[in-house]
Amino acid sequence: MSYKDQIDLQKLPRHIAVIMDGNGRWAKGKGKLRVFGHHNGVLSVRDVVEGAGELGIEYLTLYTFSAENWSRPKFEVIAIMELLISTLNKEIAKLMNNNVRLNAIGDLNMLPDKCHKELNNAISKTAANTGLVLTLALSYSSRGEIVQAAKKLAAKVQSGELQPADIDEKMFEDNLYTGGMPNPELLIRTSGEYRISNYLLWQIAYAELYFTAKLWPDFRREDLYEAILDYQKRERRFGMTSEQVN
Ligand code: FPP
Repeated sequence: MSYKDQIDLQKLPRHIAVIMDGNGRWAKGKGKLRVFGHHNGVLSVRDVVEGAGELGIEYLTLYTFSAENWSRPKFEVIAIMELLISTLNKEIAKLMNNNVRLNAIGDLNMLPDKCHKELNNAISKTAANTGLVLTLALSYSSRGEIVQAAKKLAAKVQSGELQPADIDEKMFEDNLYTGGMPNPELLIRTSGEYRISNYLLWQIAYAELYFTAKLWPDFRREDLYEAILDYQKRERRFGMTSEQVN
């Protein structure tokens, strides 16, 4: 039986976050430039997005470019931005066909103009779609996200619009880039690294973590389904006892 057939559709995670890692190593292992790995990583993105949508996952959030990634060699940064532009352009029809709504989180003003425009164009074209919400984390830093939320609330306090005592977790959460989205129940990281790398630190407080040695360009929807099956075997206790949750 395939992994997909074993999944309990009544117990799907609503939101899956992915750290797509290992493109560079994948390419290096084939004697190619790192950029070759990113190009092949796009094929994995396409397959996983389709696979997630087909299963009925509501939110998929992909760590596409971190704020720290700006420090990579200029050649690689430019290549990733170009890849982003061409992929958005090429995939828009498929996103529409699959009823996918595109979204982005991060310090998007840091993106080159052309990239920002292409992104905004794809976001507005897909805005009325009602299926999977595909969020790309771009120029994203979780600590940066938390700081910007704190600044927004501080400005409201300063203007007298808000009292410090009124600030609670829900209000803080609503001011993150992900405001309005459910928190991820499952976080997947590829490439055998056991790190969170400044990704959705607030949002994954109770997420189940799944690590696989597969490098991102080798990851396909079957691997996503395997991760979901693993998630469904976990007991999520949220600080309670096993007896309480059962
Ligand atoms: C991590 O691998 C991957 C990235 C920093 C870039 C991810 C980008 C893509 C998959 C392509 C664009 C995606 C979309 C949605 C259009 P790495 O370079 O850190 O690999 P390494 O750890 O082996 O060096």
